[in-house]
Amino acid sequence: MKEKLTSIRQEALALIAQDGADLEQIKIKYLGKKGELTAVLRGMGALSAEERPVVGQLANEVRADIEAALGEKAQQLRASALEAQLKAEKLDVTMPGSSPAVGHLHPLTQVQRELEDIFIGMGFSIAEGPEVELDYYNFQALNIPENHPARDTQDTFYIAENVLLRSQTSPVQVRTMEHQKPPIRIISPGRVYRSDALDATHSPLFHQLEGLVVDKGITMGDLKGTLEIFAKKMFGESTRIRFRPHHFPFTEPSAEVDVSCYVCGGKGCRLCKGEGWIEILGAGMVHPFVLSNCGIDPEEYSGFAFGLGVERIAMKKYGIDDIRLFYENDERFLEQF
Ligand code: DAH
Repeated sequence: MKEKLTSIRQEALALIAQDGADLEQIKIKYLGKKGELTAVLRGMGALSAEERPVVGQLANEVRADIEAALGEKAQQLRASALEAQLKAEKLDVTMPGSSPAVGHLHPLTQVQRELEDIFIGMGFSIAEGPEVELDYYNFQALNIPENHPARDTQDTFYIAENVLLRSQTSPVQVRTMEHQKPPIRIISPGRVYRSDALDATHSPLFHQLEGLVVDKGITMGDLKGTLEIFAKKMFGESTRIRFRPHHFPFTEPSAEVDVSCYVCGGKGCRLCKGEGWIEILGAGMVHPFVLSNCGIDPEEYSGFAFGLGVERIAMKKYGIDDIRLFYENDERFLEQF
């Protein structure tokens, strides 16, 4: 019996030591209810009284050895599993991370902010007005009575007979002068609407930036100086400006203002279509009728105003030939700014 016990111990320990040993299976095979060691213990009744304690003690030692070996092996397996896991999940903190895609401001917003910065730097502040506007502010107060031909080029969307989507930012001039006494120095950027079909150069929704200065003794020289500084800041220090006579109902005299082409410097190229000049805005001296419509005495005060298209400036600045690109939100376009 002693030999049997010794060989059980040897066999069991050898099995446990093997790679990939199934510990649960080995435990059942030797120590389980129907296990080999248990079978030996059961047969102990046949032993003599002297032999019994000796064999009993040996059997206990064998059991303890097998249990200890099983425990140790299980511990080893857990440790190597943990080590393998740590190895597999190792993080190299010196590797470059994957940075999340971060968006940026829309090119029109960028240009609008650039325009705002330039005028704020000259002492202008920002005024706002509603996009849903009264006929009175959008037209009548600006010296464009009903049936005036100037309404043709500014046909817009009507909410009611006298309520419309503003076709220009000029009504903000009137709203500002109505509740603010001179000196006035404001710009007003914002959305405007016209019932134009969408094509490469027209959109039923676009953006303008209005400017208005009213004070005692304001002259056309102030207008020219202001726009010259603006043009140099926006298009480069060597930029020159040119005034061409024009007509707007709310200014007198009125002008269209061109900047010298910042690509060719005025010699003529593809951007300026060979002209050497690029038209960028409309401007003029505020019409006395408009001043008096707003309760400002034109004998005491004078002013200038100007209005520019934000899309137009952005298209010229970046060489964009289709206005629709601004509204399609195609990332391949937006990404470039
Ligand atoms: N509101 C005009 C337009 O949409 C642009 C304009 C011209 C604004 C002359 C002005 C100005 O303030 O003085 O065509």
